[in-house]
Amino acid sequence: MEQGLSLKREVGIIGAVSFIAGTMIGSGIFISPQYVLLAIGSPGASFVIWACCGLIAMLGGLCYAELGTIIPESGGEYIYMLRTAGKVTAFVFVFSFISVMRPASATGIALSCAEYVVAPFYSGCAPPQLVLKCVAAVVILALALVNCLSVRLATGIQVVTMAIKALTLAVIILGGAVMLFQGNTANFEDSFDGTNVGKHVTLSAFGMAFYQCLWSYAGWYNLNYVTEELKRPEVNLPRALVIAISLVTGLYLLVNVSYLTVMTPKELMSSTAVAITWGNKVLGSWGWIMSLAAALSAFGSLNGTFFSGGRVCFVAAREGHMPDILSMAHVHRLTPSPALIFTTVISLVVLIPGDFQSIVNYFSFTAWFFYAVTLSGLIYLKIKKPELPRPYSVSVPIVLPILILLVAIFLVLAPIIDQPQIEYLYVALFILSGAIVYVPFIHFKLCPGMFDKVTTFLQLFLEVAPAEKNL
Ligand code: ARG
Repeated sequence: MEQGLSLKREVGIIGAVSFIAGTMIGSGIFISPQYVLLAIGSPGASFVIWACCGLIAMLGGLCYAELGTIIPESGGEYIYMLRTAGKVTAFVFVFSFISVMRPASATGIALSCAEYVVAPFYSGCAPPQLVLKCVAAVVILALALVNCLSVRLATGIQVVTMAIKALTLAVIILGGAVMLFQGNTANFEDSFDGTNVGKHVTLSAFGMAFYQCLWSYAGWYNLNYVTEELKRPEVNLPRALVIAISLVTGLYLLVNVSYLTVMTPKELMSSTAVAITWGNKVLGSWGWIMSLAAALSAFGSLNGTFFSGGRVCFVAAREGHMPDILSMAHVHRLTPSPALIFTTVISLVVLIPGDFQSIVNYFSFTAWFFYAVTLSGLIYLKIKKPELPRPYSVSVPIVLPILILLVAIFLVLAPIIDQPQIEYLYVALFILSGAIVYVPFIHFKLCPGMFDKVTTFLQLFLEVAPAEKNL
């Protein structure tokens, strides 16, 4: 697997943990709590949801740890599907990954970054959509440019923003703890009052609350995209997953306690950006610092999303499932500019009609559909090929993947069954259309000449060449 491409194994345990935690902590914890509460109705229930989502991420992470050890190639879901469900499924995944999932997550993060950038200028009222979208577009373009120009700059941004995020969460937790010990516990009394369970909206309220909350945890699977670059992956992959996911879950729960100590559920639900309301209440005239910190956190997460998604394109192109151009790198800068430009263009298109909540919902719908397929692959391997080597006893009991598979099926079906929206049908059709593209272009290799010409032109224009090196 390593011949030809010579990816270097350079990521150790600390790098691996910060890689996972750095992608997970982004925009979500600063913006989703109000949507979770809005969907589910009571602080107690929303706390339970945050804990459950942490558990789901952890169980999912354990399953991915086993998958990553049985199939030690980079590429995450793509490579697992290729090895279990076959070529067509893997292609359909990578098609949706580059055209729906990656742009949707980029746009979602950019929108919440924009929300925080403009919030101090519109205190007390919601900022106009147009302003939000323009700022989000600028953020996307700026990061795309950085990632096209220099790997070092991108890595630097990642490190700096990671430190800012950790510091911000620590400040929120400490501030909350101080208020809590001063006796601000009123919001925790009767904390399950108002829960939406048992009322008319149960199923989809549940689904939506989970979608919004799981968005904050999205990214737990990112290390599996780069398994080939990990040192001793059979040890470090499971360890990093467990450490990073428990760390993030703990932080999120404490941050939620802090939010609810400082503001009433009503205030939380009506604020456009939780962290700012928190900042104004606790830090007074220094409240704007919170919005800056939250914006930078989202900025860092978007940077990481741009940075890591390229690996999936890369692995898929290596298997002949992607136009070659998308896996090429700039000859001097060694940045994967074609794939980045492609994602940027689609992200900007998604930005035009999209708003944060619906983008997160469509992203989660598509993503959980594919986690379900990936987990079925693990169940298949456990039943059909129990003899495959599983070093370092990462073999999880089969009930785990089955449980998460059921969760995934619930997450995909609940919003559709309860409140069918035509948009989900469009997304589903779009995912399936990947199969239609597969038959002529990949299976029968129709019009190879056409691609050659376009590839050569773009290669000269963008100054890119097939990547030989670990980017
Ligand atoms: N959890 C991140 C956040 O709260 C979103 C990460 C999306 N990126 C990804 N690669 N799935 O903003």
